[in-house]
Amino acid sequence: MDTITIQAVAEMAPERAAAAYPAACAVFWETAPQAAELTGQDRELFLRKYFGYYWDNAPDLFLCASEAGSIHEMLGYICGVSDTRAHHELYQLAEHIPLFDDLYSDYPAHLHINLTSRARGQGLGARLIHDLEDRLARHQVPGLHLVTSTGKRNVSFYRGLGFTCEVSRSTEPQTQESSHDCPLFMAKRLT
Ligand SMILES: CC(C)(COP(=O)(O)OP(=O)(O)OC[C@H]1O[C@@H](n2cnc3c(N)ncnc32)[C@H](O)[C@@H]1OP(=O)(O)O)[C@@H](O)C(=O)NCCC(=O)NCCS
Repeated sequence: MDTITIQAVAEMAPERAAAAYPAACAVFWETAPQAAELTGQDRELFLRKYFGYYWDNAPDLFLCASEAGSIHEMLGYICGVSDTRAHHELYQLAEHIPLFDDLYSDYPAHLHINLTSRARGQGLGARLIHDLEDRLARHQVPGLHLVTSTGKRNVSFYRGLGFTCEVSRSTEPQTQESSHDCPLFMAKRLT
């Protein structure tokens, strides 16, 4: 883990980007066990919603972390957009996007991050988030958010990185069982 390269897809030569895609995709599926049962169009839509849309539409903010020298040794990635409100397809694709729409004027950018299991717990997630924040701040983006779920282990990771504005909402009526799994908006100011 000493020699890690972090590079945006937009900065990669075409052959490197072509090799990075399946490697990053493999990390995505590894970190989405809930999608293991999906097939056909449902599987394609799930990939588009959390991964493919960003690869195609925001390659400048799709950052891949790999062992230096080998893009095939993908350790993880972070992706996002600088202004959620400009990405109408995401409002159709992802039910959590319209849910927090009133908060995007303060925190327009959002992210998704995933590391392969052997790369976790060593600070790489924080490095990727800081790299993304630097790129957004250079374009005077005022705030960044993500949506996770209440009760997930990663909540403390985001809090530690300053995502201290937290709002949880649900589109479904809450029951005793579901109250631990509410969409949770977490955000921080960048400027
Ligand atoms: C969440 C994640 C990006 C953090 O990156 P990281 O480099 O492992 O984090 P750091 O080493 O900086 O910090 C460790 C913290 O990350 C979180 N973390 C570590 N492993 C995790 C895992 N398997 N799942 C969720 N969170 C994890 C914890 O908050 C941990 O602190 P803890 O040990 O006190 O619980 C990374 O662990 C990961 O990709 N996890 C699986 C997928 C995921 O949860 N993605 C985010 C979806 S919103």
